[in-house]
Amino acid sequence: MSKSDKVVLAAPDLAELRTHKSEKWRTFPADVLPLPVAEMDFPVAEPILNTLRAMVDKSDLGYLGPIPEMGIAFSGFAQRRWGWKPDPLQVRIAADVGVGVVEVLRVTTKPGDKILINSPVYPNFYTWCAETHLVEVDSPLAHSESEVNGSHWVFNWDEIEKSYASGIKVHLISNPHNPLGRMYSVEELSRLADLAIKHNVLIISDEIHAPLTFAESTFHPFLTISENARKVGITITAASKGWNIAGLKCAIILTENEHLHTMLNAIAPATHYRASLLGGFATVAAFEKGEPWLETLMLQLDINRNLIKELIETYAPRIGYHIPHCSYLAWLDLTPFQLGEDPAAALVEKAKVAFVPGHRFGKQSSQFVRLNFATSPEILEEAFKRLSPVLR
Ligand SMILES: Cc1ncc(COP(=O)(O)O)c(C=O)c1O
Repeated sequence: MSKSDKVVLAAPDLAELRTHKSEKWRTFPADVLPLPVAEMDFPVAEPILNTLRAMVDKSDLGYLGPIPEMGIAFSGFAQRRWGWKPDPLQVRIAADVGVGVVEVLRVTTKPGDKILINSPVYPNFYTWCAETHLVEVDSPLAHSESEVNGSHWVFNWDEIEKSYASGIKVHLISNPHNPLGRMYSVEELSRLADLAIKHNVLIISDEIHAPLTFAESTFHPFLTISENARKVGITITAASKGWNIAGLKCAIILTENEHLHTMLNAIAPATHYRASLLGGFATVAAFEKGEPWLETLMLQLDINRNLIKELIETYAPRIGYHIPHCSYLAWLDLTPFQLGEDPAAALVEKAKVAFVPGHRFGKQSSQFVRLNFATSPEILEEAFKRLSPVLR
């Protein structure tokens, strides 16, 4: 039996995937196997497709107007999933999480203000800071191996407190964390919230990966953590990662505090209708009716995250890998291979497999690459067969 036999949610074969028009399948030449950008190769959930088909059939393709369904749908999903019932009336819409973060930053900071991030982190955290002319301050997550937690990435609390005290305006966190697949604990999030109150810092929690939490882990929405968290926190999230509809363009911004809610009233009204009508109603369908599909997806991603471990043991045992607790991204440590400044570029050339280069996530990550395992086991096995001669 091949390592790639276990399938509960099938992805199309490579020939069909190569006809897709999305970024993942258009960025590299046909002889390169693409495992970079965070799109999944699985067919979209039926309730979402039905919503889209019905709207297309009726030529209902205008601007996004009022959509009270959104707050209700997200609130219901959050309650079933995480025991959290956010106020539907404090849910706002933006075209995507990036636009949501940028628009929130525009109305809560001024150019030259300082923003804290924790590398390694999703590369657009850097571009959003640049777009809003903020001065980015990095407090890298430190890697530690502990007997209790295994491999673990932790905040440097001294550094965080010092930077909060030095006039940081906003702390942008990826909760759960891309690329580490790490969940933050209640203790960590409540410590951040308490420090933020003390030093008058706003915390923006990017929770786009939260629906993709594996069964053994618990996701803690920032706004459920404490009264302090609700006073300092703004959450931005979407169905786009969990249900693979990023091209439809819709995300949500949430507050649970009247003062912050009022502050965000300064966001330009056009932000709402720059999201798409299809995206808005596809997102409602995902939150309302997308959980059965999500459960099946998580079973496949669980198979795949364990398959990566087996494939590494078989084909390239010196790769460093820790099984993520969330999402479909594997953070691979290629330090032993001395592949130069940009290992990802070397692997495209020598193995014809594409990853996201580690240096995009932070200065200290140049010897890492990020692999996207939301694809078929066959494609994953093919990737490791190609990598094997280079990464032995
Ligand atoms: C942490 C994080 N935030 C935001 C995004 C992108 O979201 P959007 O396409 O809605 O801007 C991603 C995409 O992978 C991500 O990983």
